[in-house]
Parts: sequence; C-alpha cells; structure tokens
Amino acid sequence: MSRTLLIIKPDASKRNLTEYIISRLEKARFKIVKMKKLKLKKSQAREFYAVHEGKHFLDSLVKFMCSGTIVPMALEKENAVKDLRALIGATDPSKADCGTIRFEIAKDIEKNSVHASDSDANAKKEIDFFFNK
Ligand code: CMP
Repeated sequence: MSRTLLIIKPDASKRNLTEYIISRLEKARFKIVKMKKLKLKKSQAREFYAVHEGKHFLDSLVKFMCSGTIVPMALEKENAVKDLRALIGATDPSKADCGTIRFEIAKDIEKNSVHASDSDANAKKEIDFFFNK
C-alpha cells in the first residue's frame, strides 16, 4: 500500500462537487485515510506551491487557491500516486482523457478542480504539510 495527497480545489468545492469527487475516488478503490476542510492563507499556498516559484502563473494560482474552501485528503491504495494521476487526468482539462475527473468537471488549466501529488517523495511532503504540522 502507498499513500498520496489529493486536494479538492475551490472551483470544485464552490460547485458542491466534493461528494461527487469522493464517490469517484471510492469507486476507484482509494481509501480516504485523512481528510479536512480549510481555507488557505496566502503564505500557506505559496509554501505549498514553492516548487512553482518564478512561474508566470504562481500569483494567480495562489489567489485562486485562497479564494474558497479546499479539501485535502490522504489516500491509500497500491500504486496510489500513479493511479490517482491517471484518475484525475492532465493538468490542462482540454488535454485530459475522456472519463477523467478533470475532463468531466475542471474549468481550465488553473481552475482544474483537483491537485494530486506527482511522486512518492512529494506525496509524503504534501501529506505532512496538511496533516503532520
Ligand atoms: P496542480 O496539479 O495543483 O499543480 C500546479 C497548478 O498550477 C496546476 O494544478 C494548476 O492549477 C496551476 N496552473 C495554472 N497555470 C498553469 C500552467 N500553465 N501549467 C501548469 N499549471 C498551471
């Protein structure tokens, strides 16, 4: 078993899509190990997305991530990182495969409804960020 982090982003929580996303995760056999609802402060969003420091989209991304409720959760499954990224689809929903969560509900490359860790090492860091501080 391995773990990964998923965040339901403000565009999805505002449209009451949290339950829908959870049902997709459970159907795909992910176990929700930890979950909470919160609103990020700008400093927290910057820290979480520090890897994107210097990128043209960072300021806008930080503003968006602080614009409403987010729902981070630690998920458990075999091959959790890889399988979750397959389930959510490409960052840009216009490039996401049919049937993926982002294909179905994401608005655009920024308001793309969910975040998922991209490696086991980052999954550990990101789970610690929300649940072990
Ligand atoms: P996420 O998987 O959370 O990782 C970084 C986020 O930056 C991404 O999803 C998008 O919400 C946002 N973003 C906005 N513009 C871009 C872009 N051009 N390339 C990648 N990510 C972007």
